[in-house]
Amino acid sequence: MNENYEKAAEIIVNSKQMIALTGAGISVESGIPDFRSPGGLWEKFDPIEFAHIDSFRKNPKKIWKLFFSMLDIINKAKFNPAHAALAKLEEMGKLKAIITQNIDNLHQEAGSSRVVEYHGNMSRLECLNCNSSYKGDEFTLKGTPPECKKCGKILKPSAIFFGEMIPQDALIESQELAESADAVIVVGTSAVVYPASSIPHTAKKRGAKIIEMNIEKTGLTTLITDVFIEGKAGKTLPELLKYMN
Ligand code: APR
Repeated sequence: MNENYEKAAEIIVNSKQMIALTGAGISVESGIPDFRSPGGLWEKFDPIEFAHIDSFRKNPKKIWKLFFSMLDIINKAKFNPAHAALAKLEEMGKLKAIITQNIDNLHQEAGSSRVVEYHGNMSRLECLNCNSSYKGDEFTLKGTPPECKKCGKILKPSAIFFGEMIPQDALIESQELAESADAVIVVGTSAVVYPASSIPHTAKKRGAKIIEMNIEKTGLTTLITDVFIEGKAGKTLPELLKYMN
């Protein structure tokens, strides 16, 4: 196992344009369940019924019920040593940016300054009827779904649902980062949701080294991963930083 840490540390030390791609797994030790592990969110809620834009249009009240339960968990969550380790790598000048699929804001709370929110965030609320947009904190998100101040329709959070486009700015910035990366740390993602899952492949095609940190192997591991470090990110990422000195 030490050999993997040494190899990963060497890749990081020699990199000039390293990026990270993170998924729900990096926030599990902050108390936020991921989606596809045993006991994950999609085991309890059918993602098409609860996380597709068409379902939201049909029955927004039902979708807000899931959002309120997730918001309760997210609002209580604190960043964990894995988020802190990535922030430290940025501070050391070794991490250019994080592309995250998460909407929990924990990378920012840990001090990371360049975070591309690939699946949006919860900071804004949008009206699908009259296109009005609001800051999330203009409403108390508790119990009753927020309604548009102009037309009264139930608002949608700016998190990206299945069936929605990735925000254009996030798409362009992530593509540029992936194309210029010489190393990618992939942390806590099953890498099954496209187009986020294409990011490590884009970098690999241009010669980037891929370091993958997960509690289990994924579809990336045998295909493109150069170094796989098995374990909980809250332990393995801080451990990896020890090999950097
Ligand atoms: N440390 C490292 N990895 C972990 C940990 C941990 N403590 N706990 C779980 N994992 C790994 C799991 O093994 C899994 O590979 O994190 C990954 C989580 O995968 P998913 O639950 O599929 O989450 P993610 O990859 O982020 O999903 C992508 O799918 O549902 C949509 O929009 C949602 O952004 C999400 C996207």
